[in-house]
Amino acid sequence: MNDLSMAKTAPQARFDVDAVRRDFPILGQQVNGKPLVYLDNGASAQKPLAVLDAMDRYYREMHSNVHRGAHTLGDRATSAFEGAREKVRAFMNAASTREIIWTRGTTEAINLIANGLAQRLKAGDEILVSQMEHHANIVPWQMMAERTGAKVVPVPVTPAGELDLDSFNSLLGDNTKILALTHVSNVLGTINPVAALVEQAKARGVITVIDGAQAVPHFQPDVQALGCDFYMFSAHKLFGPTGIGALYGRAELLEEMPPYQGGGEMIERVSFERTTWNTLPYKFEAGTPAIAEAVGLGAAIDYLDGLDREGMQAAEDALLVRANELVETVPGMEIIGTAKNKVPVMSFKIEGLHPSDIGTLLDQQGIAIRTGHHCAMPLMDFYGVPGTARASFAFYNTMEEVEQLFTALQKVQRLFA
Ligand SMILES: Cc1ncc(COP(=O)(O)O)c(C=O)c1O
Repeated sequence: MNDLSMAKTAPQARFDVDAVRRDFPILGQQVNGKPLVYLDNGASAQKPLAVLDAMDRYYREMHSNVHRGAHTLGDRATSAFEGAREKVRAFMNAASTREIIWTRGTTEAINLIANGLAQRLKAGDEILVSQMEHHANIVPWQMMAERTGAKVVPVPVTPAGELDLDSFNSLLGDNTKILALTHVSNVLGTINPVAALVEQAKARGVITVIDGAQAVPHFQPDVQALGCDFYMFSAHKLFGPTGIGALYGRAELLEEMPPYQGGGEMIERVSFERTTWNTLPYKFEAGTPAIAEAVGLGAAIDYLDGLDREGMQAAEDALLVRANELVETVPGMEIIGTAKNKVPVMSFKIEGLHPSDIGTLLDQQGIAIRTGHHCAMPLMDFYGVPGTARASFAFYNTMEEVEQLFTALQKVQRLFA
């Protein structure tokens, strides 16, 4: 059963993965004497030349502070920066750039929202989250609950790693004020039926916050079609730079929320008697922003726009199909997260092996995966494991890499058998 050739063959993808890989210089290197096989894309994705070049060009040709309007470089920087905001707006299909706020990433965006919504909450109110949330979509709500007397209520998942919809229906009640849900689980790969759940929540006047961190690398969100009030993601998982992310918020709600941080840029007028806030989106953008990073994110979106998105998704799906076929070639291997609708993320355990040993031994063979609790301890508790090993694929991964992963896993398993 250890012979990979015995596995069924997955459908061939149309997507030209070799051409795409040439856009990612980091992928061409050797690690520990072996060609790098990068399967830790869920933690952070690699960057195409288009992003590196855009950031380099920004610093070489146009860097200055933004929104100061005093000179030509300032104008160039501002138009590059605001141009990137427009790209993010289009990417998420938001109605207006007023609804796109720059943040440091998903984590900061959720903290901003939790802070902003605190004034709406009172003791006894409930914030519905799921058991598959990343800590970034649990802890800010717990901190807010502590301040207000509200309660964080988790919706359980099924053993397959899908949201338990019966429990969702019974937990969504009169006390629910906020639904904070991940679009895609970073551990299980599950794609939650967000549009339907948001519709149910909205019918009860519940505010909906969707964590898109793991969705955007695989498909484009449409915030108007989803109907959610807030949606956020991090650029570094979308093949863009670290240190920046975007938050979509419905203008009406953003208008009524207090600012998150005080300082320059977010004010209209400051005096010791009374300070007033800037208009959207600047009210939430205190201080000098991450300008080059915004430009880099804009370049990442342009890069993705230039790819055959359908072909890319088909190729990613084919990687997961192949990986699932090969599971039986590794004795004692078990997948955690077998939802019907999932992105190419494969969490697994191998009987008798600690996830961190799997990670270390794969690294020696040039293969990068993630091991541990994946910032999802409540989910680990549900599955009764301290952690898992996780291979997360991107569109630049190849079938050969999937097969190399399994050949390496067979070796690892034999070492401990
Ligand atoms: C589902 C999910 N939400 C939130 C985050 C936090 O993202 P960041 O660390 O970029 O803020 C992650 C990161 O892995 C994630 O996977």
